[in-house]
Order: sequence, then structure tokens, then C-alpha cells
Amino acid sequence: MATQTPEIYSFEIPPRPDRPVDGETGLAFGDYADDRFRIVRSLPSNSVTEVFEATDRVQADPVAIKFFREPSPVVSQHVDFELRAHAAVSGETGIVPLRTMGVAETAAGLQRYMVTRLAPRGSLQDVTRHRGGDLDLALSVGQRITPGLLAAHQRNVAHRDIKPNNILVVDSDEFELTDFGVAEPIKNRGRAGSGPVELDMMLPDLADFETMPDYRDPSDLKQFVGTLGYAAPETIMDAPETPQVDVFGLMATLYKVATGKLPFKHEAGMPVDTYLHIIEEGPVPAHVLNGSIPLSFDQLTKEGLSPDPAVRPSLGAVIVRLEAIRQEIAAQADQQDLVLA
Ligand SMILES: Nc1ncnc2c1ncn2[C@@H]1O[C@H](COP(=O)(O)OP(=O)(O)O)[C@@H](O)[C@H]1O
Ligand SMILES: [Mg+2]
Repeated sequence: MATQTPEIYSFEIPPRPDRPVDGETGLAFGDYADDRFRIVRSLPSNSVTEVFEATDRVQADPVAIKFFREPSPVVSQHVDFELRAHAAVSGETGIVPLRTMGVAETAAGLQRYMVTRLAPRGSLQDVTRHRGGDLDLALSVGQRITPGLLAAHQRNVAHRDIKPNNILVVDSDEFELTDFGVAEPIKNRGRAGSGPVELDMMLPDLADFETMPDYRDPSDLKQFVGTLGYAAPETIMDAPETPQVDVFGLMATLYKVATGKLPFKHEAGMPVDTYLHIIEEGPVPAHVLNGSIPLSFDQLTKEGLSPDPAVRPSLGAVIVRLEAIRQEIAAQADQQDLVLA
């Protein structure tokens, strides 16, 4: 059921293409997009986007430019919301700033794009791929990202795809959340008596774009979109979602960074099996995988990865508990120094 678009989303965004855009940009090293962004190289992207590193010739600095494929009106609705949601939180600590958005002529036609400042070290996925667990890094990431995510929730945006690929590494202790590509509006937040707080899902889930000839009944398109291994069980099973899906994604991310492993077994393309692992088995306690992890972190991730959204702590509580864990570790280190002295 669609509700009124809240004012906060009414940023001016580039107009939708008037015909489907479904091909490759065809852009290569040295080409200019929109007469302003000089392409340097491709960055990892999914089937509906193409992302490049580029140089902004107006500001003379490196950026990331993301082009959207819009094969149907449903996809265009998602792109609209991605742009509005990102604009709504741009400038918050822990969110990559949105520099500009526009329309560029590419081999695929007139294509919408958005530009963010380049994070020099790439994504958290790039940085941690060949590393084992790192508790300190997990705490730093959590302490930077959680306030940004909270700001998104306060603007009634649920991100729904928190994972290392969508966290950018600006510096060794500076991280920024990006990619509102599957975000959804939160409805009834903080309005007493107006019904349960849940996600609006006014946008049907994105289907497999390769096999989507055109727009049909949105209910046809309901299928899991997200990332197995990080997605909350209610997302996987297409049950009603609340903003607490982001606490699950955040905790799966911090667990992965701290231990080097995902909290639950998951098989690519097997959402139901993954769902069963989540609801039938709790995660392996994080300290079993990394002996330097304190019980307080085990407890936080265990609650945050609960199949019951009500058991997961609020983002505000996560911020407080991450700081407490940080201090606990610092106190232990001081103690150790005393013993060694
Ligand atoms: N500002 C940026 N700086 C550095 N790398 C980026 C930036 N934006 C995106 N990337 C890289 O491109 C990838 C895809 O971008 P993302 O916005 O997540 O698009 P998609 O919707 O295709 O997942 C990211 O996982 C990251 O590796
Ligand atoms: Mg992404």
C-alpha cells in the first residue's frame, strides 16, 4: 500500500529517462561523462549499475560515478528512492557525501548517474578480503557507521543492505556507508497510535533484471533482494520488515570483520537454507573464532543477530555498547601494561 512520500524525500533528482535504458555505458579509460567526469577505471558493481573511478574536472579530484540501468518503471522508482534517500542523509558523519547527480549521454542512451567522493582505500570488503579477524577494526567501523545509519533511520530511511562492500574506507579509522540501492521508507516511526513501525515497501522488490521483460503486477516481482549472509531472516523470507533489519546487517558485518567469518552458514542461491540456519542455530560465539574478543562483544552480536527483531538492540544502544567494549579493552590493555612493568 503506497503512502504519501514524506517531505524529506522530495529532493530534486534528475528526470527519469523517457525510454528504457538497458545496455552498457560503453565508457572506457579517458572518456568524459557529462563533459565533466574523466573515467579512470571500473569499480565492482551489480547488474543494474556500472560504477567507475573518475576525475572530476570541475573540482579536480577523484570521485566514484555510478550509472543506473533503468529497464522498467519499477526499477526507475527504486533509482528515484536511492537518490532521494542518499541526498537526505548526505553530509552526516558515517555516510559518503553525495556530490552531484545528473544525466549523461552514454552508449545505452540518456543515463542517470550519481557521484560521490572517492574513498581512497575502496570498500571494507577490499580491505578485509585477505585478512583474518580484527576486533579493533570491527569496533572502529561500528563506531563510525552506526551514527550514520541512525541518522538515516531518523529520516525514515532503512538501508537494508549493510555489508562490507557498501562500507567505504576513507582512512584507517574513517568509514562511510554508501549504496541506498535497496533502501525502503520507514513508516509510522515515532507517531504514536499510527500502527506498527515497519517498512513501507511501497517499492516492490527488484526482480532479476535480466529476466524482467517489462512491468507487470508488482506482486510478481516480490523476491529476495539483498545479500545472503548479511540479510535478516525476515528480509530473506519476504516477511514484514522493520528498521531492525539494519541492526542484523550491521551485526553480521561487525562479526565478519572481528572474526573473519560470517555468523551463519549460507549457500549462494539457497535463501531458505540460510534462513533455517539463522532461526535454528545461533551464531558461533565470536570469541571461539578470535580469542581476543570479549564476552561483551559476543553478547552484542548474539542479540543483534537474533531472528526476533525485538531482541536486537536499538541503534542508540549499539552506539553505547560499542563504546563500552572499546573502553573495556583499553582498560584491559592498561592492566596488562601494569603487569608487564
Ligand atoms: N565513493 C567511492 N569510493 C570508492 N569506491 C566506491 C565508491 N562508491 C562505490 N565504490 C565501489 O563500488 C562498489 C559499488 O558501488 P555501490 O554504490 O555499492 O553500487 P552497487 O549498487 O552496484 O552495489 C562498492 O562496493 C565499492 O567497492
Ligand atoms: Mg553495493
